[in-house]
Amino acid sequence: MISVENLSKIYTTGIFRKRQFKAVDDVSLNIAAGETLGLVGESGCGKSTLARTILRLIPPSGGRVFFKEQDVFAAGPQELKKIRGKMQIIFQHPETAFNPRLRIYDSLAEPLRLRKLARGRAEEKEQILDLLEQVGLHAEHLTRYPHELSGGQIQRLVLARILSLRPEFIVADEPTSMLDVSVQAQVLNIFKEIQNRYHIAYLFISHDLDIVRWMSDRMAVMYKGKIVEIGPAEEICKNPRHPYATSLAEAFRTFEHHEGRHAEQPREAEAGSGRGRKTSPGGCSYAPFCSDATAACNRAPELKEIAAGHFVACRRV
Ligand SMILES: Nc1ncnc2c1ncn2[C@@H]1O[C@H](COP(=O)(O)OP(=O)(O)OP(=O)(O)O)[C@@H](O)[C@H]1O
Ligand SMILES: [Mg+2]
Repeated sequence: MISVENLSKIYTTGIFRKRQFKAVDDVSLNIAAGETLGLVGESGCGKSTLARTILRLIPPSGGRVFFKEQDVFAAGPQELKKIRGKMQIIFQHPETAFNPRLRIYDSLAEPLRLRKLARGRAEEKEQILDLLEQVGLHAEHLTRYPHELSGGQIQRLVLARILSLRPEFIVADEPTSMLDVSVQAQVLNIFKEIQNRYHIAYLFISHDLDIVRWMSDRMAVMYKGKIVEIGPAEEICKNPRHPYATSLAEAFRTFEHHEGRHAEQPREAEAGSGRGRKTSPGGCSYAPFCSDATAACNRAPELKEIAAGHFVACRRV
């Protein structure tokens, strides 16, 4: 369904002294129809940038993305409009998703009208009621304004609105991190139900390893713009092989145990034992924080398959 090849994104900041920052660095991955690929990594490692670049919401700096064999970056305006309907994104902050001055009904009707997906008002209403039912809401929610709904209800309505476009690929960028734990489970269940019903592919971004493990078939661990480990979600959660993935999993367990699920993840310096090593240009960027680093780590590690479908980018593995 989705094929990402050597994707890079460089941000240029500063007006007079231009600085370049590689937020996504040579990422390749595939997501099959009906499959969920989870994406984890510390704040700022490039998860959202990767997602937005795949969807061409921001321009890439290199690489290619294919949506069902169609080259997303080469698509003209007409083609792109079609692809855009099929690839959707759900963000973390549900409160910004809907126009605060429109009743929910009109927000849900908007994409149907724009794309002429319903013939007449009766059919429109029927489709909207059907969408609502699929996300576990009722007609009474339609006459409300966004501020009269809970975060969980809004996230379900976002999903309903997206579903009206019959998407085949959805990026969920921390869709439930602003919700209560009890509501999270309900919303995640709806994500799963809808995936089963329509065979949708998900790229599911989250800080919560338990959620990723539960939601995903495979998962990818990102560090400083690169995928350092990718493979079956269960296997990576139980037995991570990259030193960064290991420290992430350990930190998650410890923090979850001591401080509850919403605890911050550790800062980088705490993640590994570290030896004050310098990052050598082109070498492994985790080496300065890695207790196993050796001279071999001065050369760039490449993703190597260590078990069926399980890849790790570490010279020590
Ligand atoms: N528009 C931008 N211009 C310049 N730098 C940016 C821009 N957007 C993001 N960045 C930088 O790129 C890096 C990756 O950001 P990104 O939002 O992709 O991280 P993330 O992994 O999604 O983090 P989080 O978990 O906090 O959401 C960060 O260092 C960020 O500061
Ligand atoms: Mg993000």
